[in-house]
Amino acid sequence: MEIKKQKKLRGRLTVPGDKSISHRAVMFGSLAKGTTRISHFLTGADCLSTISCFRKMGIAIEQNGSEILVHGRGLHGLSAPDEMLDVGNSGTTTRLISGILAGQSFTTELNGDASIQTRPMKRIITPLETMGADIVSLRGNGCAPLRICGKPLHAVHYNSPVASAQVKSCVLLAGMYADGITSVTEPVLSRNHTEIMLNYFGAKVDSKGTTASICPNPVLEAREVNVPGDISSAAYFIAAGLLTPDSEILLENVGVNPTRDGFLRVLKDMGADITLLNYKDDGEPTADLLVRTSSLHGVSVGGEIIPALIDEIPMIAVLAAFAEGTTVIRDAQELKVKESDRISVMVENLQRMGADIEGTDDGMVIHGGVPLHGAVIDSHLDHRVAMSFAIAGTVCPGTLDIIGAECVNISYPEFYRDLYSLSAK
Ligand code: S3P
Repeated sequence: MEIKKQKKLRGRLTVPGDKSISHRAVMFGSLAKGTTRISHFLTGADCLSTISCFRKMGIAIEQNGSEILVHGRGLHGLSAPDEMLDVGNSGTTTRLISGILAGQSFTTELNGDASIQTRPMKRIITPLETMGADIVSLRGNGCAPLRICGKPLHAVHYNSPVASAQVKSCVLLAGMYADGITSVTEPVLSRNHTEIMLNYFGAKVDSKGTTASICPNPVLEAREVNVPGDISSAAYFIAAGLLTPDSEILLENVGVNPTRDGFLRVLKDMGADITLLNYKDDGEPTADLLVRTSSLHGVSVGGEIIPALIDEIPMIAVLAAFAEGTTVIRDAQELKVKESDRISVMVENLQRMGADIEGTDDGMVIHGGVPLHGAVIDSHLDHRVAMSFAIAGTVCPGTLDIIGAECVNISYPEFYRDLYSLSAK
């Protein structure tokens, strides 16, 4: 994919549905009684992996574009799959489904692509084992492929060493099959979509500070889920609108849950002109975001905000390279175990564009304002890396070539079309 500098970007856009919420809607709809209707579902490859796993466990799921019907069969309604579950590239599918599978009355094996086979699963194996689960990393390296032999589970209180919504959700979902109240405390609050949506489906989930608890054996009832636009996908167009001269972009119906809005808070600090319009809160808060060209300056990003913007750090790194002054990103060691090692991949590629950036153990230091130029970028098949550099390409001189650009399919199949639609205006 070749990207060229754009004179201006204008128009309005509805970004695809939130990835985290789309996964959960299929999972909880499958475990609920009755038919759950999901609208504005993300049809990216990751969420399709979740659909495929539940179909293999006997759940009828109908898809018509981004409208989905899940014919749930109740908490104990899954059946043993005939074959291995394929989680593709999706960490969320792998970790959340493992919590569900741990409490079933059958054995499952699951595996995914080369990236998923390097991602740490010890972080879910450890708490699931303390609950009495039988879960094995088949190659003994703490990664997928995994074999999960369902067992009666015990309730635990788990102190998670990482602020990870996938770990928290895995334990809470296993807690539905446990013999008492299961709780998880995390070092910093991570995204709370599981807690919000499980309560909506009729479970009893309590949140106090950084602890979430769930009562066992809930009766989940089918619901209508209207998925908000994904702030992590909106992030690319927010950045594009800020960096491109003479631009104004309206992003409609974007999820602005406070456990996800760290990107907006950091951008405000950097001097961004972003206005929230039409704020609504129906469980998951949403707003329209009006973004105008802004001159940005460097900031310090670290501490409790990190989980609320973890997926947006590649985009923040690019923005920082175009901003005046220095940006320091700390406490983000989790970046090393995402779809790629996002510290080294961002540093390597931004350096190819001429940026002054160095990687650290837990983040990056970026001295902004150095003129950047086109380059050949290796996405390492990481969707967020590819999209962040596509935006860099719309603002720097020369041509930016992205290797593996098609990996945007994971979370945003229409990404290049949407970017083009703004430039055409
Ligand atoms: C997600 C949680 C985060 C995030 C990922 C989606 C989720 O991962 O990076 O894209 O849907 O729960 P971690 O739980 O590993 O932080």
